[in-house]
Amino acid sequence: MKSLLEAGLPVASSCDGDGVCAKCKIIIVEGKENLTPENETEAFLRESKDLPKDVRISCQTHVIGDVTIDATYW
Ligand code: FES
Repeated sequence: MKSLLEAGLPVASSCDGDGVCAKCKIIIVEGKENLTPENETEAFLRESKDLPKDVRISCQTHVIGDVTIDATYW
């Protein structure tokens, strides 16, 4: 989420990155191996919101390499 905002891209959020709303979700098109593993907060949101595997919660995910993403609201 921080990387996206620093790049000037809008990120949906109603919890300001606290890992509650899941509105910051992004779709991973390529490079999922360049993201940190899912943490407990993201795993809880994935289960409670029934999120597909190609979706990550951007405020709970760190980028460690090249990634191509999309968002439903861009
Ligand atoms: S901004 Fe709310 S869960 Fe990421």
